[in-house]
Amino acid sequence: MTVSIEIKDIGKIFGQGAKAVTALENANLSIACNEFITFVGASGCGKSTLLRIIGGLETHTSGKLEVNGQPITGPGVDRAMVFQHYSLYPWLTVIENIKFCRQLKAHTANRTDADVETAAGRADALLRLMGLTHVPHTFPNQLSGGMQQRVAIARALMSRPPILLMDEPFGALDAQTREVMHDLIRHVHRIEGSTIVFVTHDVEEAIYLGQRIVLMAPRPGRIDTIYEVPLPSERQQDMKLSPEFLSLKREILDRIRETSGMKTDFEQLERLSAQTSDNEV
Ligand SMILES: Nc1ncnc2c1ncn2[C@@H]1O[C@H](COP(=O)(O)OP(=O)(O)O)[C@@H](O)[C@H]1O
Ligand SMILES: [Mg+2]
Repeated sequence: MTVSIEIKDIGKIFGQGAKAVTALENANLSIACNEFITFVGASGCGKSTLLRIIGGLETHTSGKLEVNGQPITGPGVDRAMVFQHYSLYPWLTVIENIKFCRQLKAHTANRTDADVETAAGRADALLRLMGLTHVPHTFPNQLSGGMQQRVAIARALMSRPPILLMDEPFGALDAQTREVMHDLIRHVHRIEGSTIVFVTHDVEEAIYLGQRIVLMAPRPGRIDTIYEVPLPSERQQDMKLSPEFLSLKREILDRIRETSGMKTDFEQLERLSAQTSDNEV
């Protein structure tokens, strides 16, 4: 296995003294090249913090982090990020958004016409891959959320990043669009061969997409359990109804409830509804 990302005893504390929050404690994990790994867990367990540390947008307080054997000192072209909110430039069209970073670089000294042509070819290929060939000159606010997120993914892929970091990228989409995006991102993973680290709070999404699932737990934020997904590499939507899928989903949901201490307090709810009806009398 060629290791892409090596996380060793990573810790992160925000703030100081009485107000200090341990967002991450002793996180250890090796992520392989071309792996599709998903992170799942209750809100506040440090998923985004860990992803941002890998992306170089946040520093860790302790431990060691390496990408392809090199320590991380900040963001780099080897790691592209996609967030829940599409973060497109509203004044640029779809194709201009996709080419944006390239255009910035086109003004640098050591860039040739051939480079610019290659970039144009790559942008067209990404338009096709993401099903955007009918909207290249459309502005983001004329597109649905799903289409905007396709543009954001195409833009992230533009520089052929070996690593794609995604933080709840489909969290704002409706269920049907999300299913389409799931099959699309798995297709992208096959074609582009990048390592994908995908954060979600949706267990079904984590299982359907991932080869491995990292379950995180809160207070302090930490890696709790790592699961291998017992599904073939070609995924189909109806696998979500298979016994292996459902049993893993139940196991993970139970573990999230156990570690987060969150459960529905039915007695409390009954008392509340009894009080409400007393007041109405
Ligand atoms: N910039 C910050 N300053 C202070 N605390 C933060 C900051 N970012 C995150 N935290 C805290 O760190 C913990 C983990 O947050 P986060 O990584 O966003 O969790 P998740 O993405 O799993 O919901 C939470 O308790 C959160 O309040
Ligand atoms: Mg988060």
